[in-house]
Amino acid sequence: MSIIELKNVSKTFDAKKSNIHALSNIDLCVEEGEIFGVIGLSGAGKSTLVRCMNLLEKPTDGEILIDGKNLLKLSNRELRLMRREIGMIFQHFNLLMQRNVLDNVCFPMEIAGVSKAEARKRAKQYLDIVGLSDKAKAYPVQLSGGQKQRVAIARTLASNPRIILCDEATSALDPQTTGTILNLLKQINKEYQITVVVITHEMRVVEEICDRVAVLDHGVLAEVGDVKEVFKAPKSNAAKALLLERKIKQLEGDVANDI
Ligand SMILES: Nc1ncnc2c1ncn2[C@@H]1O[C@H](COP(=O)(O)OP(=O)(O)OP(=O)(O)O)[C@@H](O)[C@H]1O
Ligand SMILES: [Mg+2]
Repeated sequence: MSIIELKNVSKTFDAKKSNIHALSNIDLCVEEGEIFGVIGLSGAGKSTLVRCMNLLEKPTDGEILIDGKNLLKLSNRELRLMRREIGMIFQHFNLLMQRNVLDNVCFPMEIAGVSKAEARKRAKQYLDIVGLSDKAKAYPVQLSGGQKQRVAIARTLASNPRIILCDEATSALDPQTTGTILNLLKQINKEYQITVVVITHEMRVVEEICDRVAVLDHGVLAEVGDVKEVFKAPKSNAAKALLLERKIKQLEGDVANDI
């Protein structure tokens, strides 16, 4: 059984002039333990898709199954419990600015009713995993972008998730820092068998960490397959265009290095 299954999912936003079909009839499975990428141009529907996976966005049509359970049929309490198993990290980190690093990581455990002493003990372990033990007392404003994202990842781990959804988690970071965050996600995936869904507009991110990738084009699933195969022989125009863009970026990088 797939850990995440989307069956015929559509999402339409009502707008004054004409409705926006953000997602149209998406069928998609994410297998337990894999790193699954979703790529597409701006406005393709990536964030909407990932927000449907934990029901932050309610689909207009279709079913969302986690471990075979239909999220749309869960009670509020069951949904709250299920959501704890689905962590999320974002482009802009969403840290609490008035709390130090340790207290940020403690936050989800406090909400879940974990005692303060236990939460602090576990938070220190999560900070150790993301390599930020020495910043426990620092405030977010004192951290670099990469460090803030590490705190966000530690905070997500604190909920003991089985799935982590990453919406453009590296888009605000420079290429080198992007590399270190991707490695950290890979390490977490391997060591803790956490399924990771990575939303991105960068082929480089898909190439570096994903096992499989889905290509979204104007709310439609254009293509899904093993990353190696999609890179070698893209079938859809959307995948071809994204790969061309990647090639141009690489060439620009080479030229810049030559100068
Ligand atoms: N709450 C909303 N209300 C109305 N329209 C929305 C809403 N959220 C998204 N949309 C529209 O749905 C479409 C898909 O948006 P979405 O944010 O999912 O794209 P995306 O692929 O994540 O883009 P980006 O790469 O820029 O983040 C867009 O046309 C967007 O304007
Ligand atoms: Mg988005």
